[in-house]
Amino acid sequence: MANIQDKIADLLKEVETSDINSLDQLEEFRIQFLGSKNILKPLFADLKSVPNKDKKLVGQQINSLKQAAQERFDQVKVSLEETGETKEKIDFSRPGEPKEIGARHPISIVRNEIISIFERIGYGVSEGPEVEDDWHNFSALNFPPEHPARDMQDTFFVEKGEREMALRTHTSSVQVRVMENNKPPIRTISPGRVYRNEAISARAHCFFHQVEGLFIDKDVSFADLKQTLLYFAQEMFGDKAKIRLRPSYFPFTEPSAEVDVSCTICNGDGCNVCKYTGWLEILGCGMVDPNVLTSAGIDPEEYSGFAFGMGIERIAQLKYRVNDLRLYSENDVRFLKQFKSAF
Ligand code: PHE
Repeated sequence: MANIQDKIADLLKEVETSDINSLDQLEEFRIQFLGSKNILKPLFADLKSVPNKDKKLVGQQINSLKQAAQERFDQVKVSLEETGETKEKIDFSRPGEPKEIGARHPISIVRNEIISIFERIGYGVSEGPEVEDDWHNFSALNFPPEHPARDMQDTFFVEKGEREMALRTHTSSVQVRVMENNKPPIRTISPGRVYRNEAISARAHCFFHQVEGLFIDKDVSFADLKQTLLYFAQEMFGDKAKIRLRPSYFPFTEPSAEVDVSCTICNGDGCNVCKYTGWLEILGCGMVDPNVLTSAGIDPEEYSGFAFGMGIERIAQLKYRVNDLRLYSENDVRFLKQFKSAF
């Protein structure tokens, strides 16, 4: 009992009188008296052999010793800080480190620009799910049951509970949803990610982005479609851009066309980007097939409309002259930070 109290008294003396004149010494003090293996810990073990009647008193003495160590530490720390012992270590003349400002992804920039171009002529934006059912991705769009696009080669199928679903292969699925849920007139664009089971290369990827456009009203004609697409091409690629339509086929439009824009690199004179044709393909389009209108609950006798769909990566490639699709999903900051835009 006397023994342990002597030890406490000695340690208290040490706490109160030890020399602490630098941060290093303060750290030594902290380790010795307050650290996880501090020298006060064995005292609690010794406490077990103290007779019960004295345990409370000795316990309190150990606690005040601990407290004294903490107080000395706090007090010396403050005074070292005041005398500049810690401040000295900060060099206020060092130049600051500039914060890097992030850049928007080129796909987002082009998507936002496309949205803005169509918003200016009254189009709204609608979105739909990426995991889609057969009806919205294929059947309602007039794909016959044996159509090759449904094949495993192109479509990623997924199971959702009991149902077989697909990762949507195009944003045309959203036009079905919009027609099912809205009465004409309808004027909307649907940007989004789509998936196709393709080997990844510079020219193909298993996912990419599209923007679908849909316009349904009374007396909508092919001339309206052409004028809308010319407006888009000139807003996107400049006043001098020209468009050309080539007949094509999609199950959900009739007639259908593929649209080329005059080469953005050589202005139509011919270069290796346009393979000396002067034209670059940018989108697919057509008049919405009456079967599609009927499937979505719109009377084709009363209404007509057009739809178009374009790949955002494709537009971005032409705008920024990027020729490897993989760059868009590799997240290489050196690539991404080159794109500055108002969109
Ligand atoms: N969905 C078609 C595709 O992915 C594009 C398209 C959209 C064509 C709308 C015509 C009308 O290739």
